[in-house]
Amino acid sequence: MLYRTLGRTGFTVSEIGFGCASYWGKPRFSERRAIGLVHQALDLGVTVFDTGASYSAGEAEPRLGRALKGRDASSLVISTKAGTFHAGRGRIGRDFTPAGVVRSAEASLANLGLDALPVLQLHGPARSDLTAELLAALAGLKARGLVRSLGLNSFDPVVLEHAIGLGVFDVMMVDYNVLRPERAPLIARAVKAGLGVLAGMPLAMGHTGLKVARIGDLQDVWYAARGLVRHRREVKAGVAFSFLHRRSDITGSQAALAYVLGDPNVASAVIGTTRPAHLAENVQASGVALPADLHAQIVRTQAAVA
Ligand SMILES: NC(=O)c1ccc[n+]([C@@H]2O[C@H](COP(=O)([O-])OP(=O)(O)OC[C@H]3O[C@@H](n4cnc5c(N)ncnc54)[C@H](OP(=O)(O)O)[C@@H]3O)[C@@H](O)[C@H]2O)c1
Repeated sequence: MLYRTLGRTGFTVSEIGFGCASYWGKPRFSERRAIGLVHQALDLGVTVFDTGASYSAGEAEPRLGRALKGRDASSLVISTKAGTFHAGRGRIGRDFTPAGVVRSAEASLANLGLDALPVLQLHGPARSDLTAELLAALAGLKARGLVRSLGLNSFDPVVLEHAIGLGVFDVMMVDYNVLRPERAPLIARAVKAGLGVLAGMPLAMGHTGLKVARIGDLQDVWYAARGLVRHRREVKAGVAFSFLHRRSDITGSQAALAYVLGDPNVASAVIGTTRPAHLAENVQASGVALPADLHAQIVRTQAAVA
């Protein structure tokens, strides 16, 4: 595993991070398998673990806490998110009030069994949520030593640009993958301003591998439903990139990750998986260069589907 600097945070992070979210965090996915994946990731040198207060209906964060129990977390960069919460029956509530975000951070510390959160990210705020009062509350969490660095996770370029300019955030998590080349200039601006960038959904949620058509287990049904209900654009666009998976010199997932990590402005590509073999395959993408002809084919396809 290779490691990169996470902006001005002072942290060094593994090129491949592990996302503790979605199906991984759900009670119907066995605790033993979920925790086994975290331990496997640790053994493979993964140091970034990303979760959120509202992930997996609030179940992912405490599950990550249980997985880390008894482990030395001092060199890990655990990232969690505030501003959203599980509002019951699968609904996600939003609370970006200063008191709400502070409460959420304090609950995250307890869930994760940590004295301080290496990264606390706001989870999808609107620009109008980023009030002076909220920024002061975030600074207060840092001053109390409860949070080491502040981040923002958003898919909205307007919010991201605004956040870069505020000078308050140290980390940014954006969706960045072969389907999202337009994020590159924004990521470059964030890094120039001193932020560290975590790439979320670096495998485009598996849709270049035609995930919705590959049902082998219960989680695949869930992934397919998520794609068809919430990410139709990615499902459709992913088909054009299925050539990634037809090479003999590199696997499709490794090619997707090599594309993301080929951008030196990305500190870590944070993947989600429920399968040990996939985790091992993804970790092996660290340090792999994308073959030049494949890179050219990706760029040509991006232009064609734009
Ligand atoms: N999705 C979002 O809306 C979102 C938003 C903000 C942040 N994030 C962060 O980004 C992380 C990753 O996002 P994500 O899980 O949605 O997307 P992702 O990492 O791009 O893709 C995950 C999908 O790819 C499959 N996969 C993983 N490795 C594979 C391999 N080697 N071969 C074939 N399929 C493979 C997984 O299925 P298997 O289980 O079968 O491996 C899963 O369906 C999250 O955990 C979170 O930390 C995500």
